[in-house]
Amino acid sequence: MKTNWIKQKLKSMGVTQEQLAQAIGRDRAVVSRILQGRQPLRLDWAGAFARILQMSPEEFLRQSGAGSERTDAYPNAQKTRIIVGISGATGVIYGIRLLEILADLGIETHLVISRPGMITIAEETDYTLPQITGKAFRHYRIGDIAAPIASGSYRTLGMIVAPCSVRTMAEIATGVTSNLLTRAADVVLKERRRLVLMVRETPLHTGHLRTMTQLSEMGAIIAPPMPAFYTRPAGLADMVEHNLGRILDLFDLEIPALPRWGET
Ligand SMILES: Cc1cc2nc3c(=O)[nH]c(=O)nc-3n(C[C@H](O)[C@H](O)[C@H](O)COP(=O)(O)O)c2cc1C
Repeated sequence: MKTNWIKQKLKSMGVTQEQLAQAIGRDRAVVSRILQGRQPLRLDWAGAFARILQMSPEEFLRQSGAGSERTDAYPNAQKTRIIVGISGATGVIYGIRLLEILADLGIETHLVISRPGMITIAEETDYTLPQITGKAFRHYRIGDIAAPIASGSYRTLGMIVAPCSVRTMAEIATGVTSNLLTRAADVVLKERRRLVLMVRETPLHTGHLRTMTQLSEMGAIIAPPMPAFYTRPAGLADMVEHNLGRILDLFDLEIPALPRWGET
């Protein structure tokens, strides 16, 4: 995508990257990555860019070449789906941020939140439920056992439960699933797709550890949210970002500019 002219136009109009970020509901770092050509521009953002630059969306797409280049520049832009489960463990911000990152990567997210998950969202964040479900491509009620993601014939890349409570983990391990979140996870396992559980509890008793072993033997990936310190995180947001980057590595998805050991 050609971005130099956008930067020049922003400058001549006195429009800041912060204003562009507000227009697409993202932070300035996203705009900066787009303008550096390190993150593709989603088509729904192109409209907001065009509005701010006072031109028609068609003219904006023509000048930037965004529409025509999108598939090449954006390897994840094919119809790819990942199920995101948010259960009632602490750390719901992992699931919320995951929805944003996957949307930026052009992945369709299919969201299901357990009832305790809704409680932890209210306890730990200022987000309303519609604000969170609005970040997903599609969301389902926890009791909607007839939802597409309850069937193996509905193809997905897999599922990430972020965060995963001990209760949800144990239910998935038994196969006796009582809600859509655990049913979807069971389906992902039976279809031999990727199931990543960000199990969050501490300390752990032997039963928890045995359940994790059992799930690992069944093909799930147990990936508790554990921060890395070698990246010198500036705060919680950096820790969450790095953790999620390592989770997305498991799906061969790349967060641009994720700090990596041994790479500058
Ligand atoms: C603020 C808060 C934090 C919690 N943190 C955890 C946790 O880290 N791990 C966990 O397994 N359960 C945690 N729980 C308890 C779960 O919410 C509870 O076991 C619930 O039944 C899980 O249901 P779910 O797996 O259907 O979401 C927490 C509950 C609350 C209210």
